[in-house]
Amino acid sequence: MFLYPLTPSLEGKALGQNIYDDNGNVLLKKGVILKRPYIKKLLKMGYFEVYIQDELSEGVDDTPLLKEKTKKRAVLTIKKIMQDYESRARIQYQDVCSIVSNIVDELMDQNCRVISLQGLKAYDSYTFYHSINVCALAVMLARWCYYTKDKLVELGMGALLHDLGKQKIPREILNKRDKLSDEEWEYIKKHTDEGYEAIRKVPQLSSICAHIAYQHHERIDGKGYPRGLQGDEILGQARVVSIADAFDAITSQRPYRDKLLPYKAVEIMEKSMGTQFDEELLEVFLNSIAVYPNGSVVELENDLMGIVLKQNTSNNRKPRVKIIGQKVSDTIVLLEPYELDLDSQELSIKRAWERYELDRLMKRVI
Ligand SMILES: [Fe+2]
Repeated sequence: MFLYPLTPSLEGKALGQNIYDDNGNVLLKKGVILKRPYIKKLLKMGYFEVYIQDELSEGVDDTPLLKEKTKKRAVLTIKKIMQDYESRARIQYQDVCSIVSNIVDELMDQNCRVISLQGLKAYDSYTFYHSINVCALAVMLARWCYYTKDKLVELGMGALLHDLGKQKIPREILNKRDKLSDEEWEYIKKHTDEGYEAIRKVPQLSSICAHIAYQHHERIDGKGYPRGLQGDEILGQARVVSIADAFDAITSQRPYRDKLLPYKAVEIMEKSMGTQFDEELLEVFLNSIAVYPNGSVVELENDLMGIVLKQNTSNNRKPRVKIIGQKVSDTIVLLEPYELDLDSQELSIKRAWERYELDRLMKRVI
């Protein structure tokens, strides 16, 4: 399945994943053929991307990082936490602890060293899935750094709540397409203090959780906010969350900018090694995250075009691919599909493509 921008052109296509409403009920089931009124309703509800089933993605390993049931529970929990916070009620520790323990258990069951976030995106509105993605990514990164289970749960709780303070920022500022004024920017920066104060009020949550929210926009070079802390002055857990937060933000569609493919996010983040991000942690992260997640369209150095089927645990830049054609100037010559394990080949991936770029070129197949 592929993640597509939600537009009327998807009419007649089959959904690749269940779609849920805000209360966690199934709105449209996987396999349902999209009709124009469904698309209209989804757009109205704020969805902007959906997974679509298609022939090209046959054979792609689409095992999700988290079970459907867990994602659904996580969305409902984070929604309740945000409502409690907005209505000035205290956040319930039990809500946070139970879902994060559940997420950590599932992630610890995964043996894989290379992880893809596929299946988590487009699940619900940005606020909800961003919190869950950052929690899952931060926990995986900390796991690769040998954190104990208790420490993973503590980190996961801080990661899930890291942007809680954003609930206080008016949507018009958060989703503004134009450049923010200095005043608006100062307003956004306050979400770190707001989150810190809210988490501190929950006695069972450790000060580490509160400091993750407080420090997740600090930078190693001291140019971050709110306090301009440097290097080791920044809590290790906050350095982990800042990497997870940046990666998910760069690869997510936002009203004011287009999302970038993971390989581009990796290139961007590599440039900030040791300035924005902790060098050692970033190295572990960039060597372990799927640079070309399952289902990606990739162009190899020799112009062969393929779809990523499965990750190789030994090398996160050399997955197993299904070759579908060859690029010849601005056309694609279709080939009888065959599998290629790049890990055992000299051949590397030149770049990944957006799916719509392939669709455009496929119209001119030979
Ligand atoms: Fe933030």
